[in-house]
Amino acid sequence: MSKRKRRPALPPPPSSPVVPGLIGPMRTVPPGIVRPDYAATGQPSERASRAIRTDDEITAMRVAGRVAADALIEVGRHVRPGITTDELDRIGHEAMVEAGSFPSTLNYRGYPKSLCTSVNEVICHGIPDARRLQDGDIVNVDVTAYIEGVHGDTSATFLVGDVDERSAQLVADTREAMHAGISVVRPGARIYEIGRAIEDVANPKGYGVVREFIGHGIGDQFHTSLQIPHYYDPRNDTVLLPGMTFTIEPMVNLGSPKLEMWDDGWTVVTRDLQRSAQFEHTILVTEDGHELLTLPTEGAPADVRFAGERLGVGADVTD
Ligand code: MF3
Ligand code: CO
Ligand code: CO
Repeated sequence: MSKRKRRPALPPPPSSPVVPGLIGPMRTVPPGIVRPDYAATGQPSERASRAIRTDDEITAMRVAGRVAADALIEVGRHVRPGITTDELDRIGHEAMVEAGSFPSTLNYRGYPKSLCTSVNEVICHGIPDARRLQDGDIVNVDVTAYIEGVHGDTSATFLVGDVDERSAQLVADTREAMHAGISVVRPGARIYEIGRAIEDVANPKGYGVVREFIGHGIGDQFHTSLQIPHYYDPRNDTVLLPGMTFTIEPMVNLGSPKLEMWDDGWTVVTRDLQRSAQFEHTILVTEDGHELLTLPTEGAPADVRFAGERLGVGADVTD
């Protein structure tokens, strides 16, 4: 029996492959800002984390989530053809630092930048560099902020200028898949229900849901041992309990779910070079359902605010 999944033949991607660009120096954080344990060494503590957060931690996580969500919106407002991903990194870095937070990705396991920018066929962990966004690109911006001793982690995929219909549909469907996964979160639900809900959106459309990168428990540590796969596997039968906090962050590919990593040790790309999209929120399991912890100070989060919007169309690309 063949294990290979039959996928509809896709037209070639609408852009040439992304190539590594020049990476600038690590940005600095003022000494007054409290740093996570790994900031100096690059190595996060390996101690086991609790699965259930205290009330004080939850209060702090609303703050960290808000700071990350606000920074993501600020970056989104600047997405347009001609801007470099390093400039997006600077905008996100400054927003996080001005809010009194530490950009969680900085030196996390040696990662060199303050957020991730994943363009077109880059699935995740793209490093901001000197590449300019091009008309028709899609770019995921993934922002994590550390403040009051906890992390908040959120991302959205933005449309750069005039994006082709297939890519725009992938982005819309990936956002819908994330929200389908979020919608099943309540006490008593099992972790596999999240991946099942995501696949119920993605699979009928022929997309490939990435398996090697998954959602994660989050709190005083950036990534805890709690694992949230974005695909259905009945073995993931852990029961959700009030006070658990984790991310849901499906990566959905137009073509095959298979991936490769660049020599930089970070950038993950689709093997077939077809495009990939991702959205992410940090979620709390409440007594009767769930709460999004990555909500901005005002109005709708980035995924809603910029949904389907072709950013920077007609804008002056020089500013
Ligand atoms: N924010 C990413 C996530 O959703 C993790 C980035 S870790 C880095 O889990 F080291 F790549 F920045
Ligand atoms: Co995450
Ligand atoms: Co993230």
